[in-house]
Amino acid sequence: MNDMSAPELKTAAWTAVGVSKAHESARLHVLGQADYTDDIAEVRGTLHAALGLSAKAHANILALDLDAVRASRGVVAVYTARDIPGTNDCGPIIHDDPILADGLVQYVGQPIFIVVADSHDNARRAAKKGVVTYEELPAILTPQAARKAQSYVLPPMHLARGDVKSAFERAPHTVKGELHVGGQEQFYLEGQIAYAIPQENDGMLVQCSTQHPSEMQHVVAHALGLHSHHVVVECRRMGGGFGGKESQSALWAAAASISARLLGRAVKLRADRDDDMLVTGKRHCFHYEYEVGYDDEGRIVAAKVDMVSRAGYSADLSGPVATRAVCHFDNAYYLSDVDIRAACGKTNTQSNTAFRGFGGPQGAIAMEYVLDEIARNLGRDALDIRKLNFYGKTENNVTPYGQVIVDNVIHELVDELEGSSEYRARRAAIDAFNKTSPVLKKGLALTPVKFGIAFNVTHLNQAGALVHVYVDGSILVNHGGTEMGQGVNTKVMQVVAHELGVNLDRVRITATNTSKVANTSATAASTGADLNGKAAQDAARQIRERLAAFAVKQHGGAIEDVRFAADTVFVGGQKIPFGELVAKAYLARTQLWSDGYYATPGLSWDPKTMTGRPFSYFAYGAAVAEVVVDTLTGEWKLLRADALYDAGKSLNPALDIGQVEGAFIQGMGWLTTEELWWNAGGKLMTHAPSTYKIPAVSDCPEDFRVRLFENRNVEDSIHRSKAVGEPPLLLPFSVFFAIRDAISSVGGHKVNPPLNAPATCEAILNAVAAVEAAVTPGA
Ligand code: MTE
Ligand code: MOS
Repeated sequence: MNDMSAPELKTAAWTAVGVSKAHESARLHVLGQADYTDDIAEVRGTLHAALGLSAKAHANILALDLDAVRASRGVVAVYTARDIPGTNDCGPIIHDDPILADGLVQYVGQPIFIVVADSHDNARRAAKKGVVTYEELPAILTPQAARKAQSYVLPPMHLARGDVKSAFERAPHTVKGELHVGGQEQFYLEGQIAYAIPQENDGMLVQCSTQHPSEMQHVVAHALGLHSHHVVVECRRMGGGFGGKESQSALWAAAASISARLLGRAVKLRADRDDDMLVTGKRHCFHYEYEVGYDDEGRIVAAKVDMVSRAGYSADLSGPVATRAVCHFDNAYYLSDVDIRAACGKTNTQSNTAFRGFGGPQGAIAMEYVLDEIARNLGRDALDIRKLNFYGKTENNVTPYGQVIVDNVIHELVDELEGSSEYRARRAAIDAFNKTSPVLKKGLALTPVKFGIAFNVTHLNQAGALVHVYVDGSILVNHGGTEMGQGVNTKVMQVVAHELGVNLDRVRITATNTSKVANTSATAASTGADLNGKAAQDAARQIRERLAAFAVKQHGGAIEDVRFAADTVFVGGQKIPFGELVAKAYLARTQLWSDGYYATPGLSWDPKTMTGRPFSYFAYGAAVAEVVVDTLTGEWKLLRADALYDAGKSLNPALDIGQVEGAFIQGMGWLTTEELWWNAGGKLMTHAPSTYKIPAVSDCPEDFRVRLFENRNVEDSIHRSKAVGEPPLLLPFSVFFAIRDAISSVGGHKVNPPLNAPATCEAILNAVAAVEAAVTPGA
């Protein structure tokens, strides 16, 4: 007891962060005991809602006959735009997003009315019975058509640096072309859902699957004509969000709340999968026109890109998504003289929104496409051309938007991966294989990632948390972040446990709730653990300081020498169990709970000039993919993937590796099998898993080597970790370019295969045919 040296030594290495811990809900997930919104016990008299959807892409509504809906079995009420007590709007930034269409429909799938019935099935059945008389208007369906018509949801953006015109004049070579990269459905396993329960005195409690409880609170308050303090939004967890529940959970929250308010009864609105896909926005598809000048070595000397996205009928988050695309066109490469334009095409389709990477992947893939072409034009390995163009460490280290890169590790990271993946040896083996294999062709690619961390919009970079230490020594944490499977709760619990020196099982976390931490930002831009971890640390630290002061008063010694570790408090030569100290501190009237707050320092962004320091730091990564393509059918398989990711000093390596693996496969789906297809009338025909192909377990490579790069954030981030949620989605660029490499081998790597994304079997077959035609004399 009195010999302090031994336990002191043992606890010196004590830590709750930087260690692989299971997801806080792993057990519940596996046992089926984790509660999602639809699992919450329903209050007596709960009703169920469904939405009546537009069948036309663009039309005036001349007449709306809902008699058959009202007469349908079990129907209690039917509501249209006119019944909304407050504002008919659920747009997150620009208010061009009606909850219910009022006289004008702008896409197939747009909600026109709400039907409330005694059961989910009865509501859905009734919703199909609306009779709408339309006067059809011309519809714009593609981003190219939107550009032609100058149809935009907001003014186009422009970022330029240097003297692009004269740089092009000096450039020995140029490559010029167009590229199309498709969108992507978020395909969260738990669909959109909201459950609104009226409370006394005009209150409304909304249980909602959302990444952004505070915004749901605002939208519901406006729709009901109430104040924020009337509305409480809660989310314990989502079964996936992937950006699709950042703004687009609002429609469902609003529709359920409007119905609940008008009826004075609890109303649940759970989207069927087909409705979910027909109604909600997805990742933006992008169309690019590029022109890049380069020298004999393959160094880029001038770059110009003009991109237009399919924003859909309203702005939603299309502006910020395009901004991130502009800020990631450079990816890991220094562009001295550059001109980047981006526009958000207004189309008569779903309003596209956030999706993991938030425009970053769409910006960077265009540059990777260009580098791939430059390499082929010069007859060089694409990896060499990529390396040649990497940002420098002390020079050529300023991004087009003016941020100085001070944490560049792309050189050493790629070198390490090149070695560990045996890139060069495998390149030679693949060349040899392809020489003797006329039908099956292999391909290989290594692609890098640099991804900026922080919201571009500075004020969003703030967070709050509450930490309660109870008299029995157990700890309850609440913060503004939302759990969607990524593990933010686990990381925040680790941070609190570390700060108070207690074992993780002492700490429990509760549902995100707008009546606990106020004015939260969306859990997005990969900042969940960065922001909420820091806020929770701030709260825990205040409690620890109070406990340390009390401990010194009781046991002597200096405050600076008090240590909290291994569930024990070391003070004045004694070790007191944490629980015992807490109980005594309470009796001595010590405040044992605290709030905490964090705002990321050093950020700035001028949206007019598109310059500043929008990112706190950059996360880096790289991946190597090897594929085999059947050139007669277009079928392919990923044989092996190696990924190396820079999570800084990882808070939880197991969770981070899981995030890298998940993002890799999800990004691979985006670039290969997931194809969104609208018919000539503007109806999304791929609105269910029967026609929309997300990757399955069998699509994961048998040989999948994911590792974290040894690093430490140069910024003072939470325990020097780096964000992991989105950046690894760019790693499977390597799969796309490996497929392109395999196709290219058909023509002896002499021609650039015209390959858009997604590289479906059909697209691959077409590209093979185009390459064959180009190299066949007289064809
Ligand atoms: N991981 C899982 N399992 N489910 C998700 O919905 N969303 C991704 C990523 N990883 C997601 C996920 C997206 S789009 C973001 S922005 C981040 O998680 C958000 O969480 P974080 O900021 O805590 O990393
Ligand atoms: Mo993620 S797309 O920022 O929700």
